[in-house]
Amino acid sequence: MRTTLAEVLGIEVSLLQSGMGGVAGPELACAVSEAGAAGCAGGYKLSGDALSAMLKRLVAGTGRPVGVNLIPEVVGPDELDRQLAQVLDETPRHVYLSLFGMADDAVLDRITGAGRQLVVQVGTVQDAVRAAERGAIVVVQGTEAGGHLLGTAHRDELVAQVRALVPAACLAAAGGIGSPAEAARAIAAGTDGVLLGTAFVVARESMAHPHFKTAVRTSGAADTVISEVYEIGWPGRRHRVLTTDVTRNPDQPKNFIGRTVVEGKTYLVPRFSAAVPTVTTSGRIEEMAMYCGLSCGAISEELPAAEIVAGFARVLPGAHAVGTEKVEESHGKL
Ligand SMILES: Cc1cc2nc3c(=O)[nH]c(=O)nc-3n(C[C@H](O)[C@H](O)[C@H](O)COP(=O)(O)O)c2cc1C
Repeated sequence: MRTTLAEVLGIEVSLLQSGMGGVAGPELACAVSEAGAAGCAGGYKLSGDALSAMLKRLVAGTGRPVGVNLIPEVVGPDELDRQLAQVLDETPRHVYLSLFGMADDAVLDRITGAGRQLVVQVGTVQDAVRAAERGAIVVVQGTEAGGHLLGTAHRDELVAQVRALVPAACLAAAGGIGSPAEAARAIAAGTDGVLLGTAFVVARESMAHPHFKTAVRTSGAADTVISEVYEIGWPGRRHRVLTTDVTRNPDQPKNFIGRTVVEGKTYLVPRFSAAVPTVTTSGRIEEMAMYCGLSCGAISEELPAAEIVAGFARVLPGAHAVGTEKVEESHGKL
């Protein structure tokens, strides 16, 4: 018999919050974990003192399972090694590691060997099987997802293919889940939980810039596009974003269009930067990378993270339940 995501992670609701770099800081992650799901802070390019400061706030903010997200292809093997060493050294065991995309087996084994729960997000059947074989909770991402895309398949089709090959693995579905009804559909397709990104962009504790939050709340699926334009800092991977003047007209100069502050340090933001606009970003926010899934069609309110978790908890398996309890249809925005 399969175990639910909640059972595997030792939490109450089978829900992972995506560790979105720039958007998901310790405040959001801890609020989600305190509400009974699994919060996660974005590690992205943080290192040294900046990473330590973030980890300190994360550990101080909750004693429940909570994660740190790292992106192997963004930082490369040497920097990933340093980030990982820091997270393992500076956090207790209830802090799990979440990876966006596959890493070498040695990296995965180092995490599980340190007694940490490992979550790996993938977009292909091959990567899903490999991650499952290394003992990871596998997040199966479909092209409905906001942010960078790891594959080319739709969520539930990919889930079905993966489930057929790894019947006992713990799987979570990601991409396009903005309502409890959609979460229930993903569970019915064969997963043990879900991962949400866009739904938490608009959380009160999220660090997304207010313009970004409003754009997500007022947009529908047709306002998103799969693009390759926001490639400075993260080249070579397609991403789903809100349509902007930049996605419509990529033939523009790469000059600076704003500035942003990350853990106390100021950086200039060029047009086409992969960095999301946050509360510390100023400038032409409307031209920046506003990653957003098809899920935005069902998201209309800025709510505390705990309320978002509670809304989805009704349809997600808990620590003891197996399968969905109650499925409610919802049409359009909540
Ligand atoms: C604003 C934003 C930023 C993201 N940044 C990250 C990240 O840093 N690391 C990561 O693992 N996934 C990141 N993702 C992708 C999510 O993990 C996930 O695939 C996606 O949000 C699921 O689709 P949804 O947005 O429709 O829920 C990001 C998604 C969004 C919307």
